[in-house]
Amino acid sequence: MDALKRKVIEDGVVIDEAILKVDGFLNHQIDAGLMYEIGEVFHSQFSDQGITKILTIEASGIAPAIMVAHRFNVPCLFAKKAKPNTLNQGYYQTDVHSFTKNKTNSVIVSNEFLSDQDTVLIIDDFLANGEAALGLHRLAQQAGAKTAGIGILVEKSFQPGRARLEEAGLTVSSLCQVASLKGNKVTLLGDDA
Ligand code: G4P
Repeated sequence: MDALKRKVIEDGVVIDEAILKVDGFLNHQIDAGLMYEIGEVFHSQFSDQGITKILTIEASGIAPAIMVAHRFNVPCLFAKKAKPNTLNQGYYQTDVHSFTKNKTNSVIVSNEFLSDQDTVLIIDDFLANGEAALGLHRLAQQAGAKTAGIGILVEKSFQPGRARLEEAGLTVSSLCQVASLKGNKVTLLGDDA
């Protein structure tokens, strides 16, 4: 997706060889027009899959996911990283370990909002090691829901996330694939420079 690739190249800040900061349009300040376009693209890719719900994880997945949900005209459901005091009924729960942040979160979704009648499209901002997406897929499995695919905005293709998701039999669609962050420079997959 050219608009997102341009943003990543122009506004992305390389922190080190593994981390790209995109606070200007995704992780802090959000480019709403870009999120809208992202909704259009994922809709065109998955419109024949019978999607009933967009599933993401707080916090940064919510902005793109809500635009995708709007385009599909289905709810956007986000997994929470802490159990709210108000959630006393049943819920699905799984651990998600972040290698980037060196932290494990127990993430939950209420069973009120996910069931075996659902087909979910999982949306997230970054794909690094695949932990978040695999955790969301496990939540869908607990509910008996079908995962139609994983839609990612920025995939770090030098990390093992895609391979792990594909090994799990999941379809992965990434709008921007970063091949390398070496030399303080963003190199996209397919770029010769
Ligand atoms: P994984 O889910 O693919 O395994 O990724 P990992 O655990 O390594 O990443 C954990 C968190 O860090 C995720 O956010 C992910 O979106 C984010 N992240 C990973 N790599 C990068 C990167 O290069 N740049 C930026 N900006 N973020 C990255 P999170 O913990 O869910 O936090 P939130 O930001 O959504 O609140």
